Amino acid sequence: MLQKLVITSDHAGFSLKKSLTDYLEGKGFDVLDLGPSTDETSLDYPLKAEQLVSEIKKDPSLKGIAVCGTGIGMSIAVNRYPFIRGALVYNQEAAKLARQHNDANVLCLGGRVTDIETAKVLVDTFLTTDFEGGRHERRVNELGGLK
Ligand code: RB5
Repeated sequence: MLQKLVITSDHAGFSLKKSLTDYLEGKGFDVLDLGPSTDETSLDYPLKAEQLVSEIKKDPSLKGIAVCGTGIGMSIAVNRYPFIRGALVYNQEAAKLARQHNDANVLCLGGRVTDIETAKVLVDTFLTTDFEGGRHERRVNELGGLK
């Protein structure tokens, strides 16, 4: 079965989102792109984050990718929801640990600070690394969110 993903951005993350969507579709992922379809209009990241989160609420097995200028706004916004573990990641080790230790379900990226080749590595790592469980399971449970 195709792995389904949900992706969104604001205007500042649009270009990276588009490149990543093309990349992931090319790899056979079923990508639900919540837009925008252009960067011509300024778009507030909390509104796009809320849309992404509501897709994950409907299907908690879904992983998400949220892109803004730095990834900071998206990470703040998605982490306001208890069932989201959003990780703002700028290097591969952090992408790996976000999955292994934090069971992150949303990857936050910055379109103004992360180039596409780096972003591909971060996304590939995020999507292919499993949660380690064990002591990390206890800690994730202590966050109090719904798993
Ligand atoms: C938009 O200009 C920019 O502030 C936004 O994309 C993001 O970087 C906020 O964290």
